[in-house]
Formats: sequence, C-alpha cells, structure tokens
Amino acid sequence: MKYAFPDNFWWGSASSALQTEGAREGETTWDYWFAREPNRFHNGVGPQQTSTFYQHWKTDIQLLKQLNHNSFRTSISWARLIPDGIGEVNPDAVDFYNQVIDELNEQGITPFITLFHFDMPMAMQEIGGWENRDVVDAYARYAQICFELFGDRVLHWFTFNEPIVPVEGGYLYDFHYPNVVDFRRAATVAYHTVLAHAKAVQAYRAGHYAGEIGIVLNLTPSYPRSQNPADVKAAHVADLMFNRSFLDPVLRGEYPADLVALLKSYDQLPACKPEDGFLIAEGKIDLLGINYYQPRRVKCRDSAVNPQAPFMPEWFFDNYEMPGRKMNPHRGWEIYEPGIYDILINLRDNYGNPRCFISENGMGVENEQRFIENGQINDQYRIEFISEHLAWLHKGISEGCNCLGYHMWTFIDNWSWCNAYKNRYGFIQLDLETQKRTIKKSGEWFAATALNNSFEKES
Ligand code: BG6
Repeated sequence: MKYAFPDNFWWGSASSALQTEGAREGETTWDYWFAREPNRFHNGVGPQQTSTFYQHWKTDIQLLKQLNHNSFRTSISWARLIPDGIGEVNPDAVDFYNQVIDELNEQGITPFITLFHFDMPMAMQEIGGWENRDVVDAYARYAQICFELFGDRVLHWFTFNEPIVPVEGGYLYDFHYPNVVDFRRAATVAYHTVLAHAKAVQAYRAGHYAGEIGIVLNLTPSYPRSQNPADVKAAHVADLMFNRSFLDPVLRGEYPADLVALLKSYDQLPACKPEDGFLIAEGKIDLLGINYYQPRRVKCRDSAVNPQAPFMPEWFFDNYEMPGRKMNPHRGWEIYEPGIYDILINLRDNYGNPRCFISENGMGVENEQRFIENGQINDQYRIEFISEHLAWLHKGISEGCNCLGYHMWTFIDNWSWCNAYKNRYGFIQLDLETQKRTIKKSGEWFAATALNNSFEKES
C-alpha cells in the first residue's frame, strides 16, 4: 500500500543545543554536575563530547539537505546566549545562531527553534532553578531577546522540550541535577515551568511576530492493564500527572480540576498567586510538538503504600509489563505503534484538534556498530520502526487529525544526558573519535520518503 502525506508535510529531525554543539561557553547544570560526578554518565562521557555542530554546522546543514529535510528542530542554549542567565548577551552566540538560522533558510530547511531543552544555566540553578520565580522572569526575558534577535526568520518557536523530564529527573527520580526527591518541590518546578511558558507566549503575542509559538511535550499514553475500575483509575492518575499536567494548561489554559484536587488532598500543591490563573490562560499555544517513544502501562497497586516513604506518583499505580509486548531489545523500551494514533485521536476529540506534529519519535540502539555492513549501518529495524509509526500517523490524518509533520530523533547520533552515547538514534552515524559522519540505511530511506512525500509498505 502507498502511504501519501498531505502537501507541505514537515519532514525532518530534531536535536538540541547542548547535545550537539560542543565548544561550551556559559556553564549549565550538566557541565557543573559532570565535573563533580562523572560516574553518573555512561562511560564517563560528558557534555563536552559532542558532534561539534558549533564547528560543523555548515556541512551538517548540507547533510540535512541530503536527507531531504524541509524542516529541522534544534534549540538555542540559554547559557551560551546569556552566560549568567540574566545579564549581557554574548555576541558570539548571536553570530552563531544567526548563521545557522540563515543557512537553514537559504537551504530551504525551515528552522524550528526550542528555547529550553533541559539545559539550565548554572547561574540560574544556583538561585534555585525553576523553584525560584525570579528564574521564571529571567527565562521570559531570555525568550523575548530570542524573539527580537531571530523572530524575523524563525517562524516556529517552542518554549520547552519535554518540560516534565527535568521535573522527573531533577526532583523525583534522581537522573538529572539537582537530584532532589521531593514531590512538592517537583510540583513547584512543574508549575513555574508552565508560568515561564505562558510568559514567553505572552511576550511573543505582544511582539506581533509573523510566526507561531508552541511547546514540545512527551505524551505517553497511559494504558490500564484491564478495564477493572481500579486499573482504570490508576491509568487516569498516571495520565493526569505525566501528560495532562502540561497538556491541559497549554491547550485549555487551565489545570485539570481532579489533578488539583488530588494534590491538594495530599498537601502537595505549589504556592500560587491570584494572578497566575490569568497568565496560564494566556499561555495557550498555536502548535503542539508531540514526542512519542513508548506507551505507559499501569495497574492498580498490589501493595499498600509505605506512609514513611516520600510521596510519589507511584502511590497511585504500579507499572505493568504486558505479556507479549513488542520490545526494542536494543534499548529496553516497548514499541507500540498505535500509541501515536491514540494520541492524535485524543487531541482531536478532547482538545479541539490542535495544529500539531510529531516532533520526536525514534529508536535507540546500543552497540549499533554491530550492524555495519560494507561500511554502513544497515538499520532495517529503524526503517520498520519509522514506517510502522508513519502508517498509524497516516491513519490519524485520514481520520481528520491535524498532524502537520514528522520529525525523528535524531539527525546525527548525539550525546544524550546520563546515557551519553549508549543509545544511538541518528539517521547518521557519528564516529566520536574522528567526527566522521556516515549516513545509515534509515537516512537513505527517510530521504526517499521525504522526497516522494510518501512510502510503500505491505499493509
Ligand atoms: C528524548 C529527549 O526524550 O529522548 C532527548 O528529548 C534524548 O533529549 C532522547 O536524547 C533519547 O534518550 P536516551 O535516554 O534513550 O538516550
């Protein structure tokens, strides 16, 4: 069967500043943490070891062109642009981002720019990070500066990438700095992130720029083990905490009432100001980026909660391993392609069918060099992964979902936080020693699909 996509469908990939640029100027929490606890990072590889986009941006954009991208998402590094987070703008950073944006546009590749992809300037973390409302204001100023500097040529902005991840990693599950385990502080961080988002949207609207503004959320559908009311309730709470805690404010302009009631009953609500509600209502977006990798399967808890243990989302559910689930054995994540369709249908039916696109989908593979044949990674597994997901995406579009494009994670294999280079995701293989770039089979497949705006697959 031939799967053809609408005209002007966005074909591309995503990456981020800290994960690709190298040549760091302006310390982030990652630089700080790595200097102190390198053992937390896979093979002791830190944020300095990248695909050096800062040097190779021009030839890398040629590679994007070779992959027939018509769009590409990366982020601006707040710490590079404003090293102390609040003060002087670094003119070298302005030159760099101007050159990248101009070259992308010249090559016919629409730049999609994220303002914050996990890379908090250390100076901002030192004053409390997202727990401090001054950081919210500093971020809003940074966003405004970006709009003023680049808003004439960047028409698709994203305030945050996966804003729940720094909440989970930094304040609940100990995989990001500052390694706190405290739900109430996590809720404060999440809440202030929503306020920061809304302030950036406000600034964008006030500047009357020509483009649009949105956010990128990792939407992980929560499937209950069974239709037993206890399992269904468990899935509902997981959905409230991990999806709707950001989805509802940015699309509906308010939090789900049952999430607020739940946190209130456990005394976990962040401190709110009366005017916050108006601000959040103004944070409604034009475009939603959806990152989808795997589903979340949950069941009701099998055991009673230890009342001495820290309050956690898992007080309300257990994770569930569905027998026979399809796995990506190279990363240990479930593969569930219909999830992409379920997300789109949920948005269509419950959120007014917003303009959206898949901003990340991807398959991480450990030791991927074992799949080299004749000098090239033959990643047939990734081609299957993409085409299966695209088939479900296509079904969503044919049923009226407003999905405008598909970006893969990622362009060139990149450094990925604590996992460093463990899981490779790129269309292009990176040799970290030599910086040599080699297009994988999936890169060739994607280039052909983008060019044809369609692909063929047995149905
Ligand atoms: C995505 C993030 O969720 O997952 C990326 O937006 C990250 O920044 C990617 O690199 C892959 O994660 P991992 O842990 O498999 O390397």
